[in-house]
Amino acid sequence: MKKNTNIIKIERDPLKLFKKWFSLAKLKEINDPNAMSLSTVSSNMQPSSRLVLMKHFDQNGFVFNTNIKSKKGSEIKKNAKVCLNFYWKSIRRQIRIEGRATLLNIYEADLYFSNRPTGSKIGAWASSQSKSLKSRSELINRVKKFEKKYANIIIPRPSYWSGYIVNPNLFEFWKDMPYRLHDRIQYKKIKGVWKTTRLYP
Ligand SMILES: Cc1cc2nc3c(=O)[nH]c(=O)nc-3n(C[C@H](O)[C@H](O)[C@H](O)COP(=O)(O)O)c2cc1C
Repeated sequence: MKKNTNIIKIERDPLKLFKKWFSLAKLKEINDPNAMSLSTVSSNMQPSSRLVLMKHFDQNGFVFNTNIKSKKGSEIKKNAKVCLNFYWKSIRRQIRIEGRATLLNIYEADLYFSNRPTGSKIGAWASSQSKSLKSRSELINRVKKFEKKYANIIIPRPSYWSGYIVNPNLFEFWKDMPYRLHDRIQYKKIKGVWKTTRLYP
């Protein structure tokens, strides 16, 4: 086996490394390179994961939009500690991000909502995300109701439609390597400074 070929080049700032990998994923992934799993933990310690779309990232964290009255929203309200995970099959790389979720302010939520296509805005009004639905036709009827209500006027943001920003305290970059000898770099924030460690695969 060749020595140290293609191992992860450590950057001081994990966001810089994230940016590099995400740029590559955007070129290679056939759809939704911004899809990330979001894990929350309920008050009785039951973890739960689902995919969401990352809408923005910067030094402050990773943003996604959702219905804050959903299962994930209710869990975050009680326990803001969450975990995100990106997996890009096309480039065989994974990134784990642990941190705390904070609700977006109303100005940010309004801005994200205003950029959604009309159908998605109507969908946000029609869907009581994570609540039980009697039949598919109930949902379709609600869509029709809100299409009628908001025809020809600016569609306001439902108060429950917002999002969160996840401020990271841990990153782990994982890169596929031959013979399952994968390369892993962990970044942990200690007293405001990122400390890096290479981990056994
Ligand atoms: C690729 C993909 C992207 C998704 N993006 C979002 C999203 O950005 N926001 C969202 O609320 N749900 C999104 N969903 C749906 C969620 O996975 C989930 O079904 C929904 O949010 C309800 O989750 P909850 O009941 O755990 O709160 C997405 C699903 C997939 C497969």
